[in-house]
Amino acid sequence: MSFDLVLFGGTGDLAWRKLMPALFQAFRHGSLPAGGRIIGVARDDLTDQAYRELIQARFEEVEGAKRPNAAEFEKFASLLHFVRLDLSKPEDYARLKERLDSRSADTVVMYLATSPALFTTACEQIGKSGLATPRTRIVLEKPLGHDLASNRQINETVRSVFEEQQIFRIDHYLGKPAVQNLFALRFGNALFEPIWKREYIANIQITIAEDLGVEKRGAFYENTGALRDMVQNHALQLLCAVGMEPPIDSSADAIRDEKLKVLRSLKPWTQESLERHTVRGQYIAGTAYGERVQGYREEPGVDPDSRTETFVALRTEIQNWRWSGVPFYIRTGKRLASRDARIEVNFRPTPHPIFPAPEGASNQLAISLQPKDGLELHLLAQGQDGRGKGARADGTALSPVQLDLDFDKRFGAERVGAYERLLLDVIAGRLNLFVRSDEQEAAWRWVEPILDFWQTGKPRSYAAGTWGPSASSAMIARDGYNWSEENG
Ligand code: BG6
Repeated sequence: MSFDLVLFGGTGDLAWRKLMPALFQAFRHGSLPAGGRIIGVARDDLTDQAYRELIQARFEEVEGAKRPNAAEFEKFASLLHFVRLDLSKPEDYARLKERLDSRSADTVVMYLATSPALFTTACEQIGKSGLATPRTRIVLEKPLGHDLASNRQINETVRSVFEEQQIFRIDHYLGKPAVQNLFALRFGNALFEPIWKREYIANIQITIAEDLGVEKRGAFYENTGALRDMVQNHALQLLCAVGMEPPIDSSADAIRDEKLKVLRSLKPWTQESLERHTVRGQYIAGTAYGERVQGYREEPGVDPDSRTETFVALRTEIQNWRWSGVPFYIRTGKRLASRDARIEVNFRPTPHPIFPAPEGASNQLAISLQPKDGLELHLLAQGQDGRGKGARADGTALSPVQLDLDFDKRFGAERVGAYERLLLDVIAGRLNLFVRSDEQEAAWRWVEPILDFWQTGKPRSYAAGTWGPSASSAMIARDGYNWSEENG
């Protein structure tokens, strides 16, 4: 099956950081279908050869085994092409069309890795220039819009040019191996599903912590903030994966229907819950990797009086039969104590404890997305020698122990990364791991009251290299729980 992958924003940050390395890995793994072309598109005036050299120079910066050697790069480079295009100029699209028509690939993928502000223009021009055919698929990066209204507007424009099954809205968290494994754990095994409900689960915590700051994206981030950048999409998609009902089959719409139901069941916000169950923070100077780092307001491109949040913590509930009354906590932030993304399912304690156990100890299943891709099951056991927290020399007390599954060790570290997986899915036309417009709308509808509530006031400060403002711990402590790093 031949394909043309047209990368709008072909010299941009996302193309360098994520897409080209992912395409190279797919090529190296032999999973990129033969007979493909990757066509970078941007305003720069580059020949195919100059584009290849630019990419080669970028690959020089890649460390370790992921860096291509010269012979590998030469083969990969033969797939790379470049077309100069100004997104607002119809004649440039005509030139792109000529290039695409020079051979007729079975599938043409248009990947909009540009600023979302340009999506509408690009889609309209793609439509007008005759570039949208039944063989075409369009890929849209997040964030799709700034709020519900702008999201709807973009989706309307895209749908006026493409059918829904041609539209691939990316949320790269869905491509992470740990998320595939969460689906496998829940719906490929009979063990957990019977206890995956309010009777057995006390609370669920979703953490996406980053140790990096905003890096070179200050100007983008200023107008976005953590709620739009991470919660509206990545964190809510994780919440759907952990909270959804078993789909009737593994088809894209069966999965998306169930995720949509979760988003529609999220507890609506009230003034009281906005005050009690939302926390926003902004990092100030602190220590990361043992070094002094600057605060968010000192980052390039950031307003010195900025009120943009770099940290969010929330409490919500899924209002349905399965989850009624179970709190779901979400937190995410930049410049936190470590890079750590995980979903923790905390089970209720035994109804009638006969052994002494450490205070608050109960079972936990932790799905770790990064840095490790794995599963940990926390149990309580008899430490024979009386060692361990809460243990007694006579062996009557229990100590926490852990079953630890490391998927990288089990399946090899050269596994398919998120963008690699998603790019291959687009080329193959598999929509399972992409987001439907109604899901996006439901997610925007739910976050919008928080955005409105945060129009006034300002975020709480937290020092870089910590776990965010203390109000985040206070929020969860009001329910009698802790974030996991507070459990000692
Ligand atoms: C992106 C956000 O969607 O996800 C970034 O825009 C964030 O701000 C990134 O850093 C995190 O992705 P990952 O895969 O590194 O956890």
